[in-house]
Amino acid sequence: MPRIGDQAPDFESMTTIGKLKFSDYIKGKWAILFSHPADFTPVCTTEMSGFALEKDFFEKHNTNLIGLSIDSIHSHIAWVNNVREKTGVYFHFPIIADIDMKVSKLYGMLQPGESETAAVRAVFFIDPNGKIRLIMYYPLNVGRNMEEIKRALVALQTADEYKCAMPLNWKKGEKVIVPPPKTMHELEERLASNLEMVDFYLAKKELV
Ligand code: BEZ
Repeated sequence: MPRIGDQAPDFESMTTIGKLKFSDYIKGKWAILFSHPADFTPVCTTEMSGFALEKDFFEKHNTNLIGLSIDSIHSHIAWVNNVREKTGVYFHFPIIADIDMKVSKLYGMLQPGESETAAVRAVFFIDPNGKIRLIMYYPLNVGRNMEEIKRALVALQTADEYKCAMPLNWKKGEKVIVPPPKTMHELEERLASNLEMVDFYLAKKELV
């Protein structure tokens, strides 16, 4: 089962946009790989629609989406078309038809205590170097939170850009945590700085 900090395992699969090699699809971009338990189910329909409705957000944040479930390509196509007809929402991102469970097993999305045949609701955040940076798992009966998915992506991208860390409940525009000093010299610098400080190890700053 891949963990945070691992290189995202590569694979080739059939998807709703044709055969796709994962490493090619994500090259040079952030990627969010997410699984859902089954096509034509209610919670999954709300979640997939949620991802689709945030197309502009994910494009603006240089992030490719890719879904997955243990269903056939025919089922995926029928579901995507059905949701488009009924609601006008189009799942523009590729959805992997993981009928042989190859990718679900590779990514630990099949968690037998929850289901032997359906993937749990997993979300893998993968950076442009192909490294897994954050993982979420939700059970079959609880849908994910799109605001948290977006917040986590922005937090990861901001942490990388500004070499900082994010406190509890951080949102874009709020102060960030400056990493603690690692040498005595850095400690002296920290103590002489005008950062907002609880103590030397907990200092915050505005991003300008
Ligand atoms: C759903 O998406 O509604 C769902 C899928 C599998 C099990 C339970 C709920």
